[in-house]
Amino acid sequence: MSNENINSECNLAIFASGTGSNFINIYNNTTSGEILGKVKLLISNNPRCKAVEFAKENNISYEIINKSRFPDSGHVEKTILQVLDNNNIDLIILAGYMKKIPKGVIEKYNNRIMNIHPALLPKFGGKGFYGMNVHEAVINSNEKKTGITIHFVDSEYDTGNVIYQEEIEVMEEDSALTLAKRVLELEHKSYPKIVKEFCNKHNRS
Ligand code: GRF
Repeated sequence: MSNENINSECNLAIFASGTGSNFINIYNNTTSGEILGKVKLLISNNPRCKAVEFAKENNISYEIINKSRFPDSGHVEKTILQVLDNNNIDLIILAGYMKKIPKGVIEKYNNRIMNIHPALLPKFGGKGFYGMNVHEAVINSNEKKTGITIHFVDSEYDTGNVIYQEEIEVMEEDSALTLAKRVLELEHKSYPKIVKEFCNKHNRS
């Protein structure tokens, strides 16, 4: 079914820099009608990532915003704000976005920017805790559990208000790789649920 046929009022912008499995999963949940929202655009700093490839293949608008195109950081902020505004964005969803969100964007979209982190914050969060680094740190610290955190974004890395957390057990035989796989499965189950709740609230208001 085309995304246009659904009574979707919540306009979503997804920011992604890499594989984009969360982006694709959320997008599929909007086109199936599970999330009453529309992915209006993808913003990426990385023109060669899989997320951008998916956007191109599926005719999703995308914008590459990075230092090579916009050497001045003020210009980056201005461009992001403009693109979000042009698309009447209600919610920004970070899905493996590797850049800091400019201050002006955080201020304007207060409590309307979500991120998903592959651990139980505040543990294993902050600068440097991304990708496999997170899971390796969890294994090296002999943690008995890990999980996911979905939170609103503030001006620091991984410190915004927590919206949702879910735990899984770290098994004796787990490696960072096996853990990463199970945590990502949990992300794919949970992120759409939280986005769906946000959209439902938004659509009722
Ligand atoms: C996920 O593990 C997420 O928790 C983190 O970045 C990763 C993105 O994965 N913020 P993908 O690009 O959505 O596959």
